[in-house]
Formats: sequence, structure tokens, C-alpha cells
Amino acid sequence: MDDVLTSCPACGDLLDIAYEWDKLPVPKSLREFEAAWSRRNNPLDFSGVWRFRKLLPFAPDDKIVTIGEGQTILQNSQAVARYVGMDPGRLMLQHEGLNPSGSFKDNGMTAASTHANMVGAQHAACASTGNTSASLAIYASSTGLFKTIVFVGSGKISYGKLSQALDYGAKTLQLAGDFDDAMRQVQAVCKQEKIYLCNSVNPFRLEGQKTIIFRILEALNWDAPDWIVVPGGNLGNSSAFGKALIELKQLGLLTRLPRIAVINAAGANTLHRLYNQQGLRWNSGRPQQQLVNTFYDEMDRDGRKATTLASAIQINRPVNLKKCLRALDATDGIVREVDDQLILDAKAQVGAGGFGCEPASAASVAGAKLLREEGVIAPSDRVVCILTAHQLKDPTATVAYHSNDKEQFDKVLAPLGVKTTAFANSPIGVANEIDRILEVIHGF
Ligand code: F0G
Repeated sequence: MDDVLTSCPACGDLLDIAYEWDKLPVPKSLREFEAAWSRRNNPLDFSGVWRFRKLLPFAPDDKIVTIGEGQTILQNSQAVARYVGMDPGRLMLQHEGLNPSGSFKDNGMTAASTHANMVGAQHAACASTGNTSASLAIYASSTGLFKTIVFVGSGKISYGKLSQALDYGAKTLQLAGDFDDAMRQVQAVCKQEKIYLCNSVNPFRLEGQKTIIFRILEALNWDAPDWIVVPGGNLGNSSAFGKALIELKQLGLLTRLPRIAVINAAGANTLHRLYNQQGLRWNSGRPQQQLVNTFYDEMDRDGRKATTLASAIQINRPVNLKKCLRALDATDGIVREVDDQLILDAKAQVGAGGFGCEPASAASVAGAKLLREEGVIAPSDRVVCILTAHQLKDPTATVAYHSNDKEQFDKVLAPLGVKTTAFANSPIGVANEIDRILEVIHGF
């Protein structure tokens, strides 16, 4: 606990947090957490992460760093259910974009910041496609506990996210490379300079992200859904969800587990290829590493780079691959890929029938639709799709999709294989005259 380590010095694998549950005050029922609602004047009980702290008991209360994260909702969406092909009331959206920095990352960053606080870190860093950096930057600026350096791929980050890192005062390095390059560099720099690393290679991050599962269960009156569908980039969420569910089962707090479906963007589909085409499996903790090594060697040899409009999941080397395999194994999980057309159409439907989300988040809804069409998900199943980030994070793709501007379409969408904008809600140009305005309105 006193060390700043993300991987095992002996074997190089990522570290995992294991608790000695028999020595800890474990709740007898998940219902015990309901009492925290009446103590909401205590910041630790107000936090949607820390009110579950008995299930991530690594920190003393006085070291916990919280900014009120996790006030998120499970929204029942009839419109999105219809689009996906579900029976009414069977599709729900877990909106993690309602966190302080606008993405699910705050669930993990509160936990990583807490550990950084425990070890007295002065500097923290991350590589990011934008949301991790926004989250780290907000925790650093609002608590003043440490200074922050973020590594982003040059030109690879949306303005919404870049603006957050800049505004919250993080030192922002725009690396001449993509996320996978930034990830490699930040790991090397943190190791050499003893800087606290806040990517999801940090095992404490994943402890915080477990609480997304707890909040979903809480919203469903502790009755597990049939499916949890989540976008897959670095595979932090799927890994954390799997760990949460394995632990709940082990503690006798949940008997039936939901199945996890991880959805890759087709342009960043390492997990899909390894899992569905090459048969990579958890294999009792010994996945066939040779398959992974060969896959990455070929990727480097062919110069293959991740390409998708869902920039948050434009990742070809998912750092949590192995932990995700454990999650898939424990939950009878599955993996799919969806192309950018499907992602943007799903995103437009989420916007029209819900709170909206950024492109990467809509991969979950696109994936659920695909699985419905395949007959893997039944219309009567209870499905939760995770919306990982807020609609305002990445307006470029949204505006290009909805505007009827051919130049925008050709520049932003067409190069990534998007052909139609079937659900576009285009702005209407109108002359600055009341009669013309009324003419347009009466035409609706
Ligand atoms: N959705 C959004 C909106 C994200 O920002 C990310 C990751 C993911 C999904 C994938 O996360 O697979 O680790 O659970 N964004 C990182 C970042 C890479 O730097 O913000 P997963």
C-alpha cells in the first residue's frame, strides 16, 4: 500500500487489489448501503463511490479524496429501447456522463487520488484520449493535492476534453503520436521520475470503477440485469465490472451475475480479434500470451493504427486485456465490434431519446442493437448500456452528423466510412425576417 507500483516487478503483469475479506467488516446484505442515503451530509456517504467503501476498503476515511462523484442515474429509455429492438422498459442507460468532469473516469480518479494522497504524491500523470486527463486535472485543481502532467496524442483529442485539461491547469503535453504512443511514454516517464501514474493500469482506479456496478444494482433494487453492455477501449471498465461481480458473488451478496458484453469500435478492435477470431481466453489466469505477442508484432509490422470517430476508444493496445478476459470468463461475457456508422446512428438515437452521450459511449447502444439482431439478447432481457461520457465532450462528430453541410460530412465523417446520416436533425437556415421565420415554423 505504501508503494507506487502498477505492475509486478517480477513478472511484469499488472497488479490487482485483493482484500482479506475475513478480517474486514463486510456488509451482510447490499441493502445495508441504503442507510448511507440518510447520512448525505457526510461527503463520504454523499459520494456515489465512497458510500460503498466497505467494498473497496483500501483507504482510511481521513485520506479519502472526493469531489462528490458518482451522482449518476439509470435512465429507462423507451425511445432507445425501440431503436435497439427491446420490449418496453427493458433497456436502461447508466449515465456516467453526469460525473463532475463529465465522464465515468471520476469513479476511478477519486480512488487513484485517494491512494496518491495516502502515499503523499506531489505529482501525478496520465496518458489520455481526453477524459482521463480531464478527470485527473479536475481532481488536482479542486483539491490542490498534487500537480498534474497529462500526455495527449497531438490532434487526437476533442476540443471539449482538451479545454478541460487546459482550464483546470494541467501541464498538457501534446505528443507527436497517438494514445498508444502516449501510454508507452507516460509509463516510462512515471517510472523514471517517480510520478504517480493515474491511467487504468493503476489498480486503485479500477476499485473506484467497481462502484458503477453497485449503483446499477442499487437502482434495480439489488436485482441484477441480464446484460451489461460497455464500450471497450483500454478495458478498464469491463475489468472493474468483472472484479466487482466476482467479489459480490464471493461475499455471498449476489447470486446471479449479469453477462458483460464488451463493444469495440471496428477501427480499434484488438479485443474482438483476439477473443472472437483467435480464441484468446482467461484460461484460469494463464491466457495464451503468445497469441497476444504475435498479434502486436503483426500490428507493428503492418503499421496498423487505431482509427475511429469514437476517439475515446481509439486504442489498439488495451492495457487491461488480461483482467478483461477474467471478467468475460466470470460472467459468460461476449465481445463485438461496431463500425462508426452504427456508433453515430446509435448516438443520435441516444440524443433524441435520452441525455445524449459522446461517440465512444454510443458503442454500447450500437452493440446492444447488434446483439439483438443476432438474437443473442432477447427482447425481454433486462439490458443496461453504459453511457461513459457526456454529450458535450465531443461536439465535432455530432455537428458533422446533424448539419447538412457537405463539406463537414466529407471532412469529418466520410473518411471513416460513414455513408448516411439517417437520424440527422439538421439546423434550418432562415432569413432575418419574421414572415420567413413563421413560414419555416408553420412548415413543421
Ligand atoms: N468511453 C469513454 C468516453 C472513454 O473516455 C474511454 C476511455 C472509454 C470509453 C474506454 O474505457 O475501455 O478503459 O473502460 N478513455 C481513456 C481516456 C482512454 O484517456 O480518457 P475502458
